[in-house]
This record gives sequence, structure tokens and C-alpha cells, in this order.
Amino acid sequence: MSKITTSKLIKMKQDGEKIAALTAYDSSFARLFDEQGVEVLLIGDSLGMVLQGGDSTLAVTNQQIAYHTKSVRAGAEKALVIADMPFMTYHNVNETMKNAHELMAAGANMVKMEGGDWLYDTIKQLTQNGIPVCGHLGLTPQSVNVFGGFKVQGRDNQKALEMIEHAKGLEAAGAQLLVLECIPTELAKAITDAITIPTIGIGAGNVTDGQILVMHDMFGISSGYIPKFSKNYIEITGDMRKSVSLYIEEVKSGAFPDESRSFN
Ligand code: KIV
Repeated sequence: MSKITTSKLIKMKQDGEKIAALTAYDSSFARLFDEQGVEVLLIGDSLGMVLQGGDSTLAVTNQQIAYHTKSVRAGAEKALVIADMPFMTYHNVNETMKNAHELMAAGANMVKMEGGDWLYDTIKQLTQNGIPVCGHLGLTPQSVNVFGGFKVQGRDNQKALEMIEHAKGLEAAGAQLLVLECIPTELAKAITDAITIPTIGIGAGNVTDGQILVMHDMFGISSGYIPKFSKNYIEITGDMRKSVSLYIEEVKSGAFPDESRSFN
């Protein structure tokens, strides 16, 4: 398999081939996932919860993401590496450019940021300066306090229509990939059909162009609340490599996530 690029991901969407993505935070897991054929690795700010034991992602810093990005880069040969921009690190142009630069210099191929229309100008600036962007809509965990908890988003018609418009706007601004988190399957399908860039779902049904899971959820080692959409592959296979390989197989065939792991 040759290196995964944004053009390759767009081609996969056009060809109807699903994209398998996982979070990763260090070089050993990055290598294992890469060797099994995972196409996208995300250094998620979920590390604030699964590595640091916090109850949200809000305390994660840009420096921490840069540190983990460097480790993941060292293990990833073919996969596209995306670094999450943490809470309050992309709220004015100069800061955003400086922080995104730090993540790219650490080895990211792309940065991810949560939000809708308020990000259009930022995304234009970043892409014009050579920094590819992945958007993130739906349950955007950095806004957990605004949402009043980790809740499914886009359930009412007006919010759903607004999300479709934001997805189109993010694409028009230059985003090259879009994560959709915890939204009804019908809405994920409408968004996926409305844009030409690939959508990567988590809790968005099996209709998106790809899937992502937090690696700790896939291995069944997350503590506390286990999201309805996650699946413990270790329970099924008893082995890490087999778990990743089965996850990829189920993403590609559309078997993951099934109805019981989706929202309607
Ligand atoms: O931080 C993260 O791991 C994420 C994924 C859940 C998409 O944003």
C-alpha cells in the first residue's frame, strides 16, 4: 500500500471504498495500526480522557498534541496522520497559524478542528498557507459544557439542516475531510451525499465514507462510560492485531457499526 494522501481518500469516496481510521498516541500502536492497513491515524484530544484520565478534553494543550504527534509520526509509514487542535487553540488567526504550524512541524499531515460556520475564514487561511484541515461536526466534545453533556446532536430538523449547510461551507472553505460524531444515521447520509470530501463517522451509522474509533474503546480498556457506538474487538478476537484487522474488515464491508451502535 502506498502512502495515504487526501487525494487517495477522495478517490476512495468516489470508488465507494470505506476508510478505516483509529486514534493513536504513540509510535508502537501507530506502527501496529499502520501495518494492519489503517488508512488514517488521529492524535485526538481524547488523550485528555484516555491517557490523562480527565473527564473531558478541555485541559489538553497544543504542546501535548505535538508531543504525541511526533511519536505517532515515528511509527506511521503509510497512514495519513491528523493532529487535533485542542480547545481554545484556534480562536484567532495568529494563534491558530502558530499552533497549527507546531503540529505540522511535529509530523502531522493535517490538523482537525471542531466547529461550523465560525471556522470558514480560519480554514481558508490555513489551507492557503499549506495546512490541510479536517472539520468536525455533530457532538464536538470541546463544546460539552454548551451542550450540557455528551449528547447526540442534530436530532431536530432545524439543527440538522444547519449542520448540512455547515458541512457544505467547511468544504467550500477548503476542508478536505470531515468527522461526524454522534448524529442520526439519516443526517450522516444527507451530509455524506451533499459534499465531495470524505466523511468519517463515529456514532454516525455505517453510511459515512469511513469510520473512526478511539483505540482504547476498540480494545475495551476505556474506563467509566462506554459509548453506545463503540465495539470491544478484543472480546471477540482476544488479540490486538486480529482486533484491528477485524475492525478494518467490518468498516470496509459496512458491518460496523450495525443498527445497535447507531442513532436514529
Ligand atoms: O479526540 C478524538 O479522539 C476525536 C475522535 C473521537 C474523532 O476527535
